[in-house]
Amino acid sequence: MCGIVGYVGYQDATDILLNGLAKLDYRGYDSAGIALVHNNQIKIDKYKGKLEVLAGHLEGENRPGKTGIGHTRWATHGKPSDANAHPHPSEDMSIAVVHNGIVENYKSLKNELIENGVTFASETDTEVISHLVRSYFDGNNILEAVSKTVKRLKGAYALCICAANEPGKIVAVKKDNPLIIGIGENENFVASDVPAIIEHTRQIYTLSQGTIALVTADSVELFDEDLNPITAQVEQVTWSAEAATKAGYEHFMLKEIYEQPDALQNTFGSILDGEAIEFEDFPLDKELLSGISRIYMAACGTAYYAASYGKQIIEKIARIPVEIDVASEFRYKNPIISEDTLFVAVSQSGETADTLESLRLATTSGAKVLSITNVIGSAIDRETRYAIHTNAGPEIAVASTKAFTTQVICLYLLAIELARLSGKLTPEEYKGYRKAAFDAPEYAKSAITQNDAIKEIALKIAEAQSVFFIGRGVDFCCAQEGSLKLKELSYIHAEAYQSGELKHGPIALLQDGSPVIAVCTQSTELFDKTLNNIKEVKARGAYVFAIAKKHMESEIIDEVDDLLLIDDGPDELSLIPAAIALQLLAYHTAVALERDVDKPRNLAKSVTVE
Ligand code: F6R
Repeated sequence: MCGIVGYVGYQDATDILLNGLAKLDYRGYDSAGIALVHNNQIKIDKYKGKLEVLAGHLEGENRPGKTGIGHTRWATHGKPSDANAHPHPSEDMSIAVVHNGIVENYKSLKNELIENGVTFASETDTEVISHLVRSYFDGNNILEAVSKTVKRLKGAYALCICAANEPGKIVAVKKDNPLIIGIGENENFVASDVPAIIEHTRQIYTLSQGTIALVTADSVELFDEDLNPITAQVEQVTWSAEAATKAGYEHFMLKEIYEQPDALQNTFGSILDGEAIEFEDFPLDKELLSGISRIYMAACGTAYYAASYGKQIIEKIARIPVEIDVASEFRYKNPIISEDTLFVAVSQSGETADTLESLRLATTSGAKVLSITNVIGSAIDRETRYAIHTNAGPEIAVASTKAFTTQVICLYLLAIELARLSGKLTPEEYKGYRKAAFDAPEYAKSAITQNDAIKEIALKIAEAQSVFFIGRGVDFCCAQEGSLKLKELSYIHAEAYQSGELKHGPIALLQDGSPVIAVCTQSTELFDKTLNNIKEVKARGAYVFAIAKKHMESEIIDEVDDLLLIDDGPDELSLIPAAIALQLLAYHTAVALERDVDKPRNLAKSVTVE
């Protein structure tokens, strides 16, 4: 996710902004820029690439200015480029804006501004903010202009804004994206996270939802959205700079697990537009669909399990046949692909060599190629004609967590949109499925809130030599992903089986106390079937930990040793809380065994070799 730094004080801002942005680099970014206010003028420098590129351009340049804003961008709307990098100015360079988050209604705002004669210089959603602020700005009311602007915005954002005519002022806004104010002596700071300012001050305000802050060198005034003054408690940061990069979490993985409700919300930002599901870079309509008779998906590791879920959900709801393959197999099996195939490459990093080669093969075979990636501008994103972006924000921990659940929600939305277009759903059914997507962030929380209980169970799993995961239908996809998470993090051998397959061989391995983790969240006949399989393994002395839904409690509680109950949400999305529970289980097991959680042995975050 993007990084924001703002400075207003007695020192030249450039170095403070560059240093602050460098401290936020763990958040991931693909371009960087700063805006300085000096002599009633705004000067902006912004470039695609790492901070070194920006610093290189600034070297030897005289960039005076004791007020400034800076930004590292993680592309969401528009590829990484100089033009799309922040800060974004108004046309007359009187306003500059940096932004973290997504403006959901930017398309309608952009159309309105274009009708009013505004020319856009970038593909970003952020640029509408610069032009809107300008339209409300009469030369000396930046605070009011920002307040009027934010009333027009829908979505999640943190903003930092300066005006040429009002040097010595920064306006900061927080809505659903983090923003803090650092309080110094005759200087103040704005940042999206503590590490950016910790070397200057440990006194901060953590802005609450909807707060607008007017920051000068010697004052910080806080207001609500209607500019009524509000107060906030000054906090003392006690974390070390290193801990601060993880926002106080012990590991990036835990932080990323906890980020999932927000990540899911961000995924919607570029997909759900009012009543419609609209994939920004995938113009799915009846005409496009009429040229698709089957879908083929290829991916690796966790992304492959998301694709397995995608197969089940698309076949169930849209009734379109879907084939899936791990990308390393797909490449060499002479797959049957034709012009009426929609090929979908799923990848967090967008750089995985096998997935990239698979999509190249699909492209040369004439397929329509779509990617689902988390990194805009990545190789896979660039090489596919159509794209859906998960917008989960950067994943730093090697083990994939929030990328998985956001891939799942993208595939779910794809399934219901395919079903709507092919007439498989009534408008009422479609509305119900769509609403369920909106509820997914809450659904995710029903696992996260049980972290302590999961930690207790992890202490038992940490003693095992080998662990079985079982499930049916989408629960099996979840079992596979849970098994992968446990083995890669804890180095405990783990295997996933379709529940009904156990008795065809693997059950021979069970002995007293063998752990079996049963995922049984489907409120269909699959529940009774998995319950029977649980009875089978219990009869062989297994220790059973089950994940089920609240309404299943009375039927399952006496059959298992430990039980985790997620909320009674829709079957089609129960994979999200269930997978999060298994992420936490793997995490705590690995911590108990003192493993290197964020960087497990032998693994790399993106596998760019075959
Ligand atoms: C497991 C994990 C890997 C990746 C796989 C594909 O936690 O992270 O299995 O899912 O290497 O990577 P991407 O999604 O970047 O293509």
